[in-house]
Amino acid sequence: MLARGALPPVNAKPRNFALGAFHGGAKASDLYMRITQGIEGSPMPAVTFVDGQFEEDDVWHLINFIRSLQEASEESSSETEAETPQQT
Ligand code: HEM
Repeated sequence: MLARGALPPVNAKPRNFALGAFHGGAKASDLYMRITQGIEGSPMPAVTFVDGQFEEDDVWHLINFIRSLQEASEESSSETEAETPQQT
C-alpha cells in the first residue's frame, strides 16, 4: 500500500462498525464517498484504484462487508434481549 502512495500508518482508535455509528451517514452512497475520498482531518486515506487489483467493485464489497458487521451485531443483540429474563 505504501508503495502505491498510501499514507504511512498512524495510531488512531479504530471505529467499531458493528455498532453502526456512521458519523458521515450510513447510506451506501455515504460510505462510498468516505472510502473513495478518505476523511479529511483524520488519518483515513482515500483509496487508490489499480486496474485488475483494486477496482470500483471492490469498494462495494467493502461496503457490503462493513454493513454486514452491523446486521450481525443487531441480530446478536436481539438474541441477547430474548434470552434475558423479564424484570417484573
Ligand atoms: C479497507 C480499508 C478501510 C475501510 C473500508 C474504511 C472505512 C471507513 C469508514 C466507512 C469510515 C466512516 C465511519 C463514519 O462514517 O463514521 C471510516 C472512518 C475512519 N477511518 Fe477508515 N477505513 C479503512 C482504512 C482506514 C485506515 C488505513 C485508517 C487510518 C490509518 C482509517 C482511519 C479511520 C478513522 C480515524 C476514521 C474516523 C474518522 C472520523 O470520524 O473522524 N481507516 N473508515
